[in-house]
Amino acid sequence: PRESIEQYKPEMRKASSGQMMRPNRKTNGSGVQAEDTRICVVMVGLPARGKSLIASKVVRYLGWLSIAAKTFNVGQYRRTNTPTPTADFFDTTNPEGERLRKAAAEAAVKDMIKWFNNGGGLVAILDATNSTKSRRRWIQERCEAAGIETLFVESKCDDEELIMSNIKEVKTTSPDYKGQDPEVAAQDFRNRIRNYEKVYQTLDEDEADLTYCKLINVGHQVIINRIKDYLQSRVVYYLMNLHIRPRSIWLSRHGESMFNLNGKIGGDADISERGELYARKLPELVKESAGDRQLTVWTSTLKRTIQTARFLPFEKLSWKALDELDSGVCDSLTYGEIEQLYPADFKSRDADKYNYRYLGGESYRDVVIRLEPIIMELERSENILIVTHQAVLRCIYAYFMGVDQEKSPWMEVPLHTLIRLTPRAYGTVEDRWSANIPAVSTWRGKGSSAKHQDTEASSRANSQDLAAPETKA
Ligand code: ATP
Ligand code: F6P
Repeated sequence: PRESIEQYKPEMRKASSGQMMRPNRKTNGSGVQAEDTRICVVMVGLPARGKSLIASKVVRYLGWLSIAAKTFNVGQYRRTNTPTPTADFFDTTNPEGERLRKAAAEAAVKDMIKWFNNGGGLVAILDATNSTKSRRRWIQERCEAAGIETLFVESKCDDEELIMSNIKEVKTTSPDYKGQDPEVAAQDFRNRIRNYEKVYQTLDEDEADLTYCKLINVGHQVIINRIKDYLQSRVVYYLMNLHIRPRSIWLSRHGESMFNLNGKIGGDADISERGELYARKLPELVKESAGDRQLTVWTSTLKRTIQTARFLPFEKLSWKALDELDSGVCDSLTYGEIEQLYPADFKSRDADKYNYRYLGGESYRDVVIRLEPIIMELERSENILIVTHQAVLRCIYAYFMGVDQEKSPWMEVPLHTLIRLTPRAYGTVEDRWSANIPAVSTWRGKGSSAKHQDTEASSRANSQDLAAPETKA
């Protein structure tokens, strides 16, 4: 393949001026060769097989990596002509139903091609059952004529219990059943599935010329066929790592450090006395939020995270990839000193904090690239507690909560607070526990180089706070 992971590192820094070179137009801001990589990921599978969930995760993952991706959900197009269908609508012997369903698929494909042609888009997800060979062939031909590659992703699942729980969890609350009794809705949805089953054709050797990935029983078995290029293989690798077992991810910054107290950035300082109090309190917060669950703790390789995690009664792993954003020549300086010594850089960073790369150091974009294996490992894992740093935590949080690049580097992630993220069918639920141990606020507003203040004294009224969930004290 011509592309490589290095190409995801789009911005080049002019060494002295602090200016960034603009991303090459050809690389579409993501570093991936736009001309020859436009992919339509075509979902395949019976209803309630997790297709929409898979589609939304892929879009979030690619967006986080700056790869423009969008889902085209045929169900939403169908709802414009048939908002609340009953199961008969999906009976293939119903000609009116067939006509309206084909019209919805055509409208979605047309909009998707328009989206690609208007520039910007690299990966579209066509989210529908696409359950017959003829429908798939039609999509493949339409895409081929428009110069778009197709990657078929089939979710096949015969675990009746799981399908029933999927129906109960997400289908009875679907807009298709607005205002209806959940029992009646669940029965109708089962009948809808029966209608699809009559004509459903799994991907098989007749379609050996297609590029596809078949996920059987949530990845217990994965069959891949004709994966052609780097981006396709990234998507497939991601899909192979997904699971839907219930779990949470806990995030915490290290306890307040001596550098935090002195307003310095970077470094490898010890935690302060108050940071030590937090380290001692953390096991209690974890117990409160995790009960008896066995967690694995991931820290960076820097002293302040290892010291913070040391009282936790779990297996611990240190990752270099979790080290704080490298501030290069500015390491160990205060924001005030940076403004004095590197005024142009200080301004450039505020103008585009996500892309700004410290001289000899990193940008937020660089951190996201190095965190990719962490995200992959997190997807494969169950209950993980990550003790890490402000910038790294913003990037991980942005992945789970779908925060965009403009906002993520400015989010406030307070010290001495435990965050729990719980992935659910459509979105991630967040809870927080504050240790109620004072600490400085290391959050810095645009243009400010003020010294860090204690949280009580610092203004909490900032609009770029993390999406304000309940904080449990
Ligand atoms: P429809 O065709 O009606 O739109 P769908 O296939 O898009 O259905 P989703 O709406 O995504 O199904 O269903 C979500 C549910 O599927 C969630 O409860 C999720 O836990 C579960 N799920 C996710 N992945 C899989 C999978 N690979 N196999 C079966 N169920 C899954
Ligand atoms: O101040 C604590 C800290 O973790 C520094 O080590 C790091 O440089 C900084 O936060 C990252 O935050 P920002 O990107 O807002 O400067």
